[in-house]
Amino acid sequence: MAPGEERRSDGAISLPPGPRRPAAVQALEWALRPATFLERCHRDYGDLFTVRLDVGRAPRVLIAEPQTAARLLSDPSLTKIPDTRASIAPVFGEEWVLLANGAKHIRRRRQMLPAFHGDHLQGYREKIVAATDSEIARWPLSQPIALRGRLQSLTLQLILVAVLGSAGEEVMEETGRKVESLLAIVANRRAALAVALPDRARSLLARGALGRARSSLDAVIVAEIERRRRTPAGGVGSDALAHLLQPTVDGEEALRTEVVCDQVRTLLLAGHESTATSLAWTLEHLVHAPNASKRLREEARSIGGDGGEAYTEAVLTESLRLSPPLANTQRQLTKALPSGPYTLVPGTLVTPCAYLIHRRPDLYPAPNEFRPERFLSAPPTPAAWLPFGGGPRRCLGASFARLQMNLILRRLFQRLSLEAVSAMREPVQRRGIVLAPANGAEVVVTKRLPP
Ligand code: HEM
Repeated sequence: MAPGEERRSDGAISLPPGPRRPAAVQALEWALRPATFLERCHRDYGDLFTVRLDVGRAPRVLIAEPQTAARLLSDPSLTKIPDTRASIAPVFGEEWVLLANGAKHIRRRRQMLPAFHGDHLQGYREKIVAATDSEIARWPLSQPIALRGRLQSLTLQLILVAVLGSAGEEVMEETGRKVESLLAIVANRRAALAVALPDRARSLLARGALGRARSSLDAVIVAEIERRRRTPAGGVGSDALAHLLQPTVDGEEALRTEVVCDQVRTLLLAGHESTATSLAWTLEHLVHAPNASKRLREEARSIGGDGGEAYTEAVLTESLRLSPPLANTQRQLTKALPSGPYTLVPGTLVTPCAYLIHRRPDLYPAPNEFRPERFLSAPPTPAAWLPFGGGPRRCLGASFARLQMNLILRRLFQRLSLEAVSAMREPVQRRGIVLAPANGAEVVVTKRLPP
């Protein structure tokens, strides 16, 4: 038997091989060198491998094989949300869409989706460009600056507009400050290291500062929900909160205040850090790719910035391929899953791994190189490109994220000249659940044109 492999009594292999180091060691490797850890395991054990990343919990099977990953994501009868995901309920709440299964999940999605699709999205265009102009006016010239944090302030403002825009500036600003305080606790290196701790120690950490930060954010959201409930119908605005407060869908009851609050908090937290991190990676790739930067600048600066968007879109697709901010999606099998020599049993935790699938040489020639041209003639296939997940749980904000990334990137290339601080590429670092550039995508702004 290969190391770490487990067989059932009928001889079928129920757990593929994987590293045999203790869970605490694997968890630390994953926390400190996530990309190296994934790449090594894939090289040593193949397309399906078993890792132990949570002390005292069941192992997980990582899946770097595109067809099996696509099946897991697209067939809801095969999987459910893992019971272990409840461990993040202290941050996102018991009722958030990411914890819901079945009909409840569909309902939660349906209530949030309209604010992030169709005509609604087009209404954000001018706000995105204006907010980008105000943000870049604050960037100093001729000195190294880390872009990720600055872009995150920008995307936080934009998600606040989409979710609570009808609440007014004061409420949005206060909510923004509270979101930042909460994220400062969960999305940092120390929090990534906490995965090596046993459950009890983690839940003690989850109370205290985290609990206080969450209550303080919730107080502002609940006050706004109550204010809108007192407002006569029609006066509640058109942001995501207004959609969540709509009285009934197909005869269902209106959501309770705490349920609405969970959805609002989820959108605010899930809806800006990954977008900012992905943009930071895009710029990190571009400042080290002079030909791609030149071509993007020409497209962005062509008369009125209207010379088509094909190259901008190819740049974004390539950046999301090479550096998906969320490397993995988590599921738990509800049925047996045969894949190659393995038969994974119900209850197994399975993790389709976008990071590894995106770097397969059989799908992408020279997979470690940043080459936007590969997507100019054809878009990627869903099984080979899954930065937003797939199937019924595909990212609800994908179109909104894409629109922001497109407009912000084009505006930066219209107005700024950017240079790399160093010829060295930034390694991948974990910040909470996202994989980010370790120095925050450091660049120097050498020139800024007026708006
Ligand atoms: C580049 C930016 C983004 C990336 C890479 C990203 C990635 C993802 C991924 C991989 C999932 C699937 C998780 C799973 O299957 O378990 C997801 C779900 C989700 N995302 Fe995003 N996301 C981004 C931006 C956004 C934005 C802007 C919003 C806010 C509108 C958002 C809201 C959500 C929500 C609510 C879900 C849960 C959907 C469900 O369970 O049905 N995301 N995202």
